Amino acid sequence: MSREVVRTRSRVLVVGATGRLGGSIARASLAAGHPTFALVRPHHFARPDSPLLEPLVAAGATLLQVNARHP
Ligand SMILES: NC(=O)c1ccc[n+]([C@@H]2O[C@H](COP(=O)([O-])OP(=O)(O)OC[C@H]3O[C@@H](n4cnc5c(N)ncnc54)[C@H](OP(=O)(O)O)[C@@H]3O)[C@@H](O)[C@H]2O)c1
Repeated sequence: MSREVVRTRSRVLVVGATGRLGGSIARASLAAGHPTFALVRPHHFARPDSPLLEPLVAAGATLLQVNARHP
């Protein structure tokens, strides 16, 4: 019996994408072709060439500037 693989695209929101786990999840989500959004704290945007942000942007993530403690 053949098994049909259903590929769906989901919008994925990642909290902590500048961290170890969140970064891995964001990369995996983008590699799987999902539109991926990353919540990023404001201090990262003080350095647009941040080594934590640049790879996310280059991989196609949409960055959302949010401080979870002050939504
Ligand atoms: N790594 C592991 O093997 C592991 C295993 C089990 C459980 N965990 C748990 O999983 C979580 C993530 O681990 P991790 O290793 O990826 O940690 P991490 O590398 O320190 O990353 C933490 C992430 O959370 C963000 N963050 C912290 N406070 C925030 C706030 N107030 N608003 C918005 N974002 C905030 C950080 O943003 P900034 O870059 O702005 O600081 C960073 O992106 C932790 O709770 C950890 O205890 C980790």
